[in-house]
Amino acid sequence: MRKFFIAGNWKMNLLRDSSVALVHQLMDQLQNTSSVDVAVCPPSVYLHDVGAALRGSPIQLGAQNVHHATEGAYTGEISCAMLNDLGCRYVILGHSERRAIFGETDVDVNVKLHAVLKAGLTPIVCVGETLQQREAGETQQVVRGQCTHSLSGLTNEQMAKTVLAYEPVWAIGTGKTATPAQAEEVHADIRKLLATTFSGSVANAVVIQYGGSVKADNAMELLGQPNIDGALVGGASLKSDSFLAIVQAAAKIKK
Ligand code: 13P
Repeated sequence: MRKFFIAGNWKMNLLRDSSVALVHQLMDQLQNTSSVDVAVCPPSVYLHDVGAALRGSPIQLGAQNVHHATEGAYTGEISCAMLNDLGCRYVILGHSERRAIFGETDVDVNVKLHAVLKAGLTPIVCVGETLQQREAGETQQVVRGQCTHSLSGLTNEQMAKTVLAYEPVWAIGTGKTATPAQAEEVHADIRKLLATTFSGSVANAVVIQYGGSVKADNAMELLGQPNIDGALVGGASLKSDSFLAIVQAAAKIKK
């Protein structure tokens, strides 16, 4: 059975003191939520401090990006081994901001994905359509294409360990959320695609998060959908109250 997974993507926000203060608040206030996996993904320069603050806590550490090579002349980049060294469990790959601002393609995501799985880290692969694509009726085709190319060459076992995040670009940081029905439709279609590309049991095992303006007041409805297994939270993950309210919403729903 799939377990709810709520992750905070802090993006390029918070400085060291506020990052550490936030995780202390999260640890203090996180109640018994063993039915929910929780992670925070701070900027890479604070992975060490946040990881140290999280030691002994059930909250896991994640990175927002990684380079595919094991080591070498890649100025400014960070390897999977470095993330492992810092105690990371998760890595976000192919976030729409990386795709749109830094030109990452499905092929780049796929190369990173193979490196991440080989290193024993858990990838969170993001997909999602733009407003223009949705309005043109291309959502299914775009999301299926991103999944097919980003996930190419994975074994069934690797796919089952990979987390997906459906994040419609038009819902990110805009306050506009996909309706539960809109999100569920895409999540169900991704699972259908996984069943054909991999297998029914793999499709059933893969955790698919929703992301895009998830807040305390819409989390319950979104997470209540059968194929939505968690949330990748941006803005609302920067404050302990709003992030924990989303975790609590997941904890209240029986999968
Ligand atoms: P917001 O929750 O701020 O819309 O961001 C979503 C997101 O991009 C998470 O990766």
